[in-house]
Amino acid sequence: PEEIFKNVISHAKEYGFVFPSSEIYDGLSAVYDYGQNGAELKNNLKTYWWKAMVQMNENIVGLDAAIFMHPKVWEASGHVAGFADPMIDNKDSKKRYRADQLLEDKIALYDSEGKTDLAEELQLEMDKALKAEDLPRLRELIIEHNIKCPVSGTANWTDVRQFNLMFSTQMGALAEESDVVYLRPETAQGIFVNYLNVQKSGRMKIPFGIAQIGKAFRNEVIARQFIIRMREFEQMEMQFFVRPGTQKEWFERWKQVRLKWHLALGTSPEKYRFHEHTKLAFYADAAFDIEFEFPFGFKEVEGIHSRTDFDLSQHQKYSGKKLQYFDPEINQNYVPYVIETSIGLDRLFLLTMINAYEEEDLSTEERADSRVVLRLHPCLAPVKAAIFPLTKKDGLPEKAREIMDRLKVDFNLQYEEKDAIGKRYRRQDAIGTPFCITVDHQTLEDNTVTIRYRDTMQQERVNAADLDRIIGDLVSW
Ligand code: GAP
Repeated sequence: PEEIFKNVISHAKEYGFVFPSSEIYDGLSAVYDYGQNGAELKNNLKTYWWKAMVQMNENIVGLDAAIFMHPKVWEASGHVAGFADPMIDNKDSKKRYRADQLLEDKIALYDSEGKTDLAEELQLEMDKALKAEDLPRLRELIIEHNIKCPVSGTANWTDVRQFNLMFSTQMGALAEESDVVYLRPETAQGIFVNYLNVQKSGRMKIPFGIAQIGKAFRNEVIARQFIIRMREFEQMEMQFFVRPGTQKEWFERWKQVRLKWHLALGTSPEKYRFHEHTKLAFYADAAFDIEFEFPFGFKEVEGIHSRTDFDLSQHQKYSGKKLQYFDPEINQNYVPYVIETSIGLDRLFLLTMINAYEEEDLSTEERADSRVVLRLHPCLAPVKAAIFPLTKKDGLPEKAREIMDRLKVDFNLQYEEKDAIGKRYRRQDAIGTPFCITVDHQTLEDNTVTIRYRDTMQQERVNAADLDRIIGDLVSW
């Protein structure tokens, strides 16, 4: 699996899906760019989510809030005070680590050595210290358990300090304290501060939801595993506003709905599991992750959180504005409770690539052969069909262009006339194109073309006039 993961990463780069940011300057840590095919795939994933959440639900509407928000938002939300990791530096290597990660690693080591008593004791002590935000105690534990820096090999540690994950910058010309603004670490707050605007202007009745896709930023200290943990990433979040007391029901409902959404793309159910949070974030009263089995183990892709009325109440307090909803059914004013579904688009992108990637052996007795094929769902494929003139002469390119010009209004197509047909097929397989259409001499006579299917590699002759329907049947939502 580790090998496959490496191959997927290099495939993603070679075929224009994902590039390291600013690569000619040796990249920027934990920041990535999406290439020509990656941008298409990402857009298709967004469409799949948006359609399922907004278009298919009468009581969910969209929003596109700004990345910059009033700094008070992040005080109210708790991020200024609480969105931090406890960090410790090794004085010799000058390397910085998450204190809880060092302890977790030690616990795993004890476990693997069969020292379960020590592991349990350390776990207990660590949880206690984390809960009490007792930073000196975290350091003590690191020293007591003789945890050394993996780089320098020494236990020469600094104090433990809280390191806030929010990026900040200045707004306006004056570099005063009041001008500090943050790059949002989650899209959710844009929805909370707008919930009454949307409710009133859209005449929404509870229960209703607001969905949003957008960038979020976190100054992650440990950035690893390709696009799993990035400093700039994209979230697709939906906040569902409900009557207090009904949150448990809705929480359960959204958990199931969201898992179904994942499975509808054809992934085998064994690849997914729920993980219940025991350590809850400062805003939640219940939280489940949907985890996917990546080649390096199960990892969170989406979070379903019951956020109570925490955020709205906090904004009410900090802004001094009433954020209550009048419920005509029970004749009461209240601050709604919120169920949130929050999926990381980049993680979804990676799992989609990993799922689709296959190194297929096509060897026969006569000769060895293989191909790399991305078995993407046709709705997600960056290019829906490729159009090839068999040769570059006899009017075949013109005929191929004519067909292409008709179809490209509805589908993202690619025209290719270089290299042998077999080679062109392979290039399209590698980016997941479901159809390849070849225009040959017979096309000029009877307007038929050959269509070749990515998954089966079968070919058949069809009338060019039927291509809209044939492609449309497979790639339309
Ligand atoms: N509004 C709730 C929220 O932001 P979260 O669990 O912190 O919850 C939600 O994030 C999702 O965003 C995660 O499940 C993950 O898929 C994605 N995510 C979080 N941090 C990320 C990072 N540094 N890089 C890429 N994706 C990330």
